[in-house]
Amino acid sequence: MENDFLYKNMIKRHSIRAFLPKNVEEEIIHKILEASLRAPSAKNTQPWRIVHVRKDTMEKITQRYIEAFQSGLQPNHDMEIAPYEGSFRKNAVELGKMFYGLLGIGREDKEKKLEVVYQNYRFWNAPEAFFLYSLKGIRENEIFDLGIFAGVLLAMMESYGLGTIFQASLVDYPAILREVLGLEEGVRMITGISFGYPDLDAKINTLIPPRYSLEEVYKKL
Ligand SMILES: Cc1cc2nc3c(=O)[nH]c(=O)nc-3n(C[C@H](O)[C@H](O)[C@H](O)COP(=O)(O)O)c2cc1C
Repeated sequence: MENDFLYKNMIKRHSIRAFLPKNVEEEIIHKILEASLRAPSAKNTQPWRIVHVRKDTMEKITQRYIEAFQSGLQPNHDMEIAPYEGSFRKNAVELGKMFYGLLGIGREDKEKKLEVVYQNYRFWNAPEAFFLYSLKGIRENEIFDLGIFAGVLLAMMESYGLGTIFQASLVDYPAILREVLGLEEGVRMITGISFGYPDLDAKINTLIPPRYSLEEVYKKL
């Protein structure tokens, strides 16, 4: 079929947590961002803002995050993360089993689980990352718009053969981020997205969490 380039990319996508040590060409990053700005938003408010970071800034964030974590500071997200319940909880538990199972990490293996926390704070060793944030005073409406923007950004990155990992863990300490990234007090940190060229030999990249079937989430009247 013609025109199924995006289909072919998206049907096989999954998160990537190991990368080749190679930066992404500026031109590609520019095109990804430029096209993502065409995402729609209610009343064209365009509530998204984005910062691109590389090695030096990433290292600063990693260091500050690990210090914060080790000092016992509790993650303090700008967006409320309530405990998962019902089917959300079931899926989250399943994912945990798959993820730790693949890495051979047992339930009680605190040391290895801690290493996963640190790997998150190390951006999964990606060469590049975006931080998605929003201006002050956003409401549910704008959060939905930000989700659309993030989805378009993701599809664009996939279309250039990049691997991506969205990381809520990268916005665990928003005050540190605002300071290191030079952002105004009160802007809302939404998510980190680490990315780069995928290391296809890495075991961790073989994790492919399942999806509901179409019949389970869709009906046609
Ligand atoms: C908003 C958001 C935050 C996420 N945060 C993390 C994270 O902090 N660390 C991580 O390893 N994966 C994180 N993920 C990845 C999810 O676990 C993953 O997308 C989900 O299990 C589905 O797997 P797939 O992306 O491989 O299809 C996050 C994904 C999203 C969309």
